[in-house]
Amino acid sequence: MRLWQIRTEDAIRKRWLTRHVGLLSADENRRHGRFIFQKDRDQFLIARILLRSTLSRYLNVEPKDWRFQQNEFGKPEIKPGRRPLPLRFNISHCNGLILCGVTVDCEIGVDCENIRRAIAIERLAPRVLSVDEQEVLASVPASKRIETFFRFWTLKESYIKARGLGMTLPLQDVSFDFDVEERLRVCFGLRVHDRPQAWQFFAPNLDSPFLAAVAISLPNDEPVDLELCDAAI
Ligand SMILES: CC(C)(COP(=O)(O)OP(=O)(O)OC[C@H]1O[C@@H](n2cnc3c(N)ncnc32)[C@H](O)[C@@H]1OP(=O)(O)O)[C@@H](O)C(=O)NCCC(=O)NCCS
Repeated sequence: MRLWQIRTEDAIRKRWLTRHVGLLSADENRRHGRFIFQKDRDQFLIARILLRSTLSRYLNVEPKDWRFQQNEFGKPEIKPGRRPLPLRFNISHCNGLILCGVTVDCEIGVDCENIRRAIAIERLAPRVLSVDEQEVLASVPASKRIETFFRFWTLKESYIKARGLGMTLPLQDVSFDFDVEERLRVCFGLRVHDRPQAWQFFAPNLDSPFLAAVAISLPNDEPVDLELCDAAI
């Protein structure tokens, strides 16, 4: 499975956007026009172009011809035409980086965060972390606290996004553990009706200050590999 990345500053510097104008749908153009700040407008545009051009690597469909719809919780998906397509995707953008993951026949959720962004860990941790995760956070040195918090955060968010149920899942009942081999394990509380074996999680190595996580559902409980790729710019 491939995870495609693009740095917004690279896309802007190399005039990637101007080479791809005209790919957006009328609805995407409307959304693009609503952003107040140029940086948000650029980020949105790069994400849409990345998504469309990445999907076209997998199937013989022109980037401008992809049509999308949302599930009832807002998760975007490919709008089925006459024959349903097996591709699933998920994108995430944070200040400076955009990721796009694509899978065939399994659910996917992607989250990235710029860990330099201001965040009230003391207030958020009891609300979003499980008891075990809070203990891990309390045990790490102060210099590792922000990174550890965002590791949990991105993993949870990747799972939420893969399930496509929005914020209806109780976050404290999705609990992550990094074991000695640095394999990522999840435990679900009673309020989350799911099986840990049905999922695989990744925490790809990204350049500082970014952290990311990817969740993939495994139809046969068989593990898969993740390859981090630079989108051609
Ligand atoms: C909207 C949400 C799916 C992700 O929001 P986010 O982390 O701010 O944003 P990301 O950049 O990672 O993802 C946004 C993209 O995910 C996709 N997306 C939107 N709704 C989605 C949903 N319900 N499920 C999966 N993907 C979704 C869209 O493609 C969106 O990009 P677009 O707006 O350009 O089309 C949702 O999880 C949310 O509101 N999170 C709030 C943050 C929070 O409290 N997290 C707790 C984690 S511990």
